[in-house]
Amino acid sequence: MKNLILVGFMGTGKTTVGVALADSLGIAHNDLDHAIIEEAGCSIPELFARHGEAYFRDLESRLLSQLLDNGPQVLTTGGGAVLRRQNVEVMLAKGTVIALHASEEELIRRLENDTSRPLLAGGVAERVRTLLAERAGAYDFAPIQVDTTGKSLRAVVDEIR
Ligand code: S3P
Repeated sequence: MKNLILVGFMGTGKTTVGVALADSLGIAHNDLDHAIIEEAGCSIPELFARHGEAYFRDLESRLLSQLLDNGPQVLTTGGGAVLRRQNVEVMLAKGTVIALHASEEELIRRLENDTSRPLLAGGVAERVRTLLAERAGAYDFAPIQVDTTGKSLRAVVDEIR
């Protein structure tokens, strides 16, 4: 089996679903944000504050490509990993891409009290609305599209399988 790559906006449940999916398939789970934190030696908010978003995106692209050479696995990515065309091409070439979605209302509810995502600083609801509009269609390249709104973890994992 090759790599299964989960993409989707922040709060769509990529990590939770990825862990459960990998477990149900008996394959490894790796998380791109986690790899970035390990490589950088600091948290994502710290990384953004110290070096800026472009530095984060470079690291994200490099580690995405590296991790995908270590399959089979379920790889969960950060919501912005699809923003570079080169990353999309790497994902399509090296695995099966699954996009998770949730309604705007559900995303705002899930992310309301989050402090770990620098792009949401300054007002979660407004930032979610703005970024969702900016990223409209960004996840459409994935051949498998799953709406998680109102679904249990089990239902989402079963649907993907
Ligand atoms: C980001 C999403 C985050 C993380 C970083 C940037 C984004 O990951 O990579 O804060 O640009 O959408 P999650 O989607 O896991 O929250």
